[in-house]
Amino acid sequence: MRITINLKNTCLLIFFLILIQPAFSQSKATLTIDVNAEKTLISRHVYGHFSEHLGRCIYDGFWVNEGSNTPREGRLRLDVIDALKQINIPNLRWPGGCFADEYHWRDGIGPQSRRPRTINTHWGMVEEDNSFGTHEFLKLCDLLACEPYIAANVGSGTLQEMANWIEYLNFGGASSLSKLRDENGHPEPYQVKYWGIGNESWGCGGNMTAEYYADQYKRYATYARSYPEAPIKKIAGGANSDDYKWTEVLMENAARHMWGLSLHYYTLPTGKWDNKGSSVDFNEKEYFQTIKRSLFMDELITRHSAIMDKYDPEKRVALVVDEWGIWTDVEEGTNPSFLYQQNSLRDALIAGATLNIFNAHSDRVRMANLAQTVNVLQALVLTKGDQMLLTPTYHVFDMYKVHQDAKNLAIKLESPMYDFNGESIHALSVSASLDSTNSVHITMVNLDASNYHDLEIDLKGYEWRNVKGSQLTAGKVNDINTFADPENIKQESFKEYKALNDQLEVSLPPKSVVLLQISK
Ligand code: AHR
Repeated sequence: MRITINLKNTCLLIFFLILIQPAFSQSKATLTIDVNAEKTLISRHVYGHFSEHLGRCIYDGFWVNEGSNTPREGRLRLDVIDALKQINIPNLRWPGGCFADEYHWRDGIGPQSRRPRTINTHWGMVEEDNSFGTHEFLKLCDLLACEPYIAANVGSGTLQEMANWIEYLNFGGASSLSKLRDENGHPEPYQVKYWGIGNESWGCGGNMTAEYYADQYKRYATYARSYPEAPIKKIAGGANSDDYKWTEVLMENAARHMWGLSLHYYTLPTGKWDNKGSSVDFNEKEYFQTIKRSLFMDELITRHSAIMDKYDPEKRVALVVDEWGIWTDVEEGTNPSFLYQQNSLRDALIAGATLNIFNAHSDRVRMANLAQTVNVLQALVLTKGDQMLLTPTYHVFDMYKVHQDAKNLAIKLESPMYDFNGESIHALSVSASLDSTNSVHITMVNLDASNYHDLEIDLKGYEWRNVKGSQLTAGKVNDINTFADPENIKQESFKEYKALNDQLEVSLPPKSVVLLQISK
């Protein structure tokens, strides 16, 4: 057959190609989950949180005045505590952040009226009345039923001061410090397990070089004692984002002295510290770039882990991502040092995708802490006087709690792409786990701002019968919960799935987080 190329034929051909084009680009997304493959445990501590003496996180967020009408135990607000218990908060990191390296624990014990008034020099030069100190923090953890994770002061404190703090809290025998703890109302040792040795020692924690900090770390770690019945896990201050050299130096020189090595990474919408971008006022271009930046977490963990593998092939040392989340400009009219920002659906999608990344790296990432629980950065809870609201990010932690201490399942995901302005990212982020009751949980995030994506799920080696779904989505990626409308974004039941032979087919709405609970 001879085809003559003329104008008419060419136009017809172009028309035909335009017609069939969507069928080619909409390739079927598939997810294969191997329920029988070897699995690592997803440590519940990956779902941990962080609360610093910063802005209204501790004071106002957790700790209110005696005059407050909020339900309280002492000065601890129970509405916030109940909300965090609901998501099974596994651990809480305190007192900082940068604040940790200027915190002197003895300022925060004993009768509150006699505690010194100090200055929070890092966060706004505001007065710190020290009414919330060590015992108050541990009472908070007790009410939350979570593990405390204390960051000790290396930057401006002494080794003796840190060693005394550990003895004060953990020693069960008779010593002047354990007697003092008793006098302050706690005869039993607290047995605080997780200890950070400094924070961001490359920056606000002392501006040290990696080599200098590695030596300091070893000195401090030597005297960070495990007392009988109170073994401790020491966490070295790790790298800032992609500072791979820091990880190399710490692992080469000090790996055998640590339980964990930390990593801090914040997602800045614009990528710039001086103009980070608004928490609510952004367009799709900025949304796309922000999501892309948040997904960098995967590369970071992969590359830091590869360095750790060199020195610790058995993966004994945990990678502890003890500060992460989105960091935007502060809400207009609020103190710039208080880091108060709103929390949109975008932030929930970031949380969902990041937690999926942590699950995928569960062989190395065994603890993580979102910054920062209440009223600061990517908060789970916002408060205004006696009012409290749950942010979209909160709901993600509620949905994902099913992964805590479950077995991470090997997945193979063929994801469609989310294209924007000539750039592409995978539209879908997925994680799956098997819990102790033999139920499979799949968490899926559709990052695409405008398109549904259908996903065929093949659960190899698992004959499922029951499926239950829930979802979190909203009309726009920058939708938020407000004190006037606190339930604008909330979890809803998800029904867009059907059985297809042995497989499940789901239709994931644009900009959504979906949880499927599957059982036999
Ligand atoms: O989370 C806010 C601050 O960010 C922390 O104090 C510090 O560790 C980090 O730079």
